[in-house]
Amino acid sequence: MANYELIPFSTAEELSRAAASAWLDEIELANRAGKTHCVALSGGRIAQKFFTATVEQGRARTVSFAQVHFFWADERCVPPTDAESNFKLAQELLLAPLDIADHQIHRLRGEWPSAEAFTAAIAELASIVPVNPAGQPMFDLIFLGLGEDGHVASLFPGSPREVTVGTAPFLAVNDSPKPPPSRISLSYSALAAAGQVWVLAAGAGKEKVLRESLTDQSVTPLARVLRSRRHTKIFAETGKINL
Ligand code: 6PG
Repeated sequence: MANYELIPFSTAEELSRAAASAWLDEIELANRAGKTHCVALSGGRIAQKFFTATVEQGRARTVSFAQVHFFWADERCVPPTDAESNFKLAQELLLAPLDIADHQIHRLRGEWPSAEAFTAAIAELASIVPVNPAGQPMFDLIFLGLGEDGHVASLFPGSPREVTVGTAPFLAVNDSPKPPPSRISLSYSALAAAGQVWVLAAGAGKEKVLRESLTDQSVTPLARVLRSRRHTKIFAETGKINL
């Protein structure tokens, strides 16, 4: 029994619209239940399309985002005003257009030394995101992109064992093959503990690594995440990823 659901799309735009619609459904469910919705965002090209689609549909459906708390799956170690910042990307394409209040935004402070950034991030998490018995934050939903090498968040292939089995919720990455080199990332343990993880796999060059990640023996970062969870949704642009 596969522990993932792969949903195929012919274009990145179609994928983004469907993921946005499904996320808004989740937010409305939480609103109806009077619950907060704690989400962690990723960066990348598909995130841009996804954020834009979310704003468009969220406005049309008059969805309330008042109970949504925004965190990040990873952040580059740059100032929040830097063009490389995942926070800046979300701020411009999602948070500002939706007029999200500051108290709902919990960016990772990539510009700080990692130990201080982790301390701040864990303190913010602790006040909002429930933790499981192992002390892992249980985000309601984490969005991941997929890199051409199978990376998700800033978890890259070939990580040392302390990365793949570490129990801390955040990791410092200093040798990212995808620039910039220094990043902060949620750990495999934190991804495993989330209520839901949705992977938005779009763009040329992803076919081989996605196909590989779906095999039992794979050790790609995506494969590790899939094996660590009972269920993961994969929105795949199969128009470019000929599965
Ligand atoms: C980052 C992202 C990263 C991204 C993937 C996919 O900080 O770089 O979080 O994990 O999601 O590399 O990016 P694309 O959608 O641009 O291929």
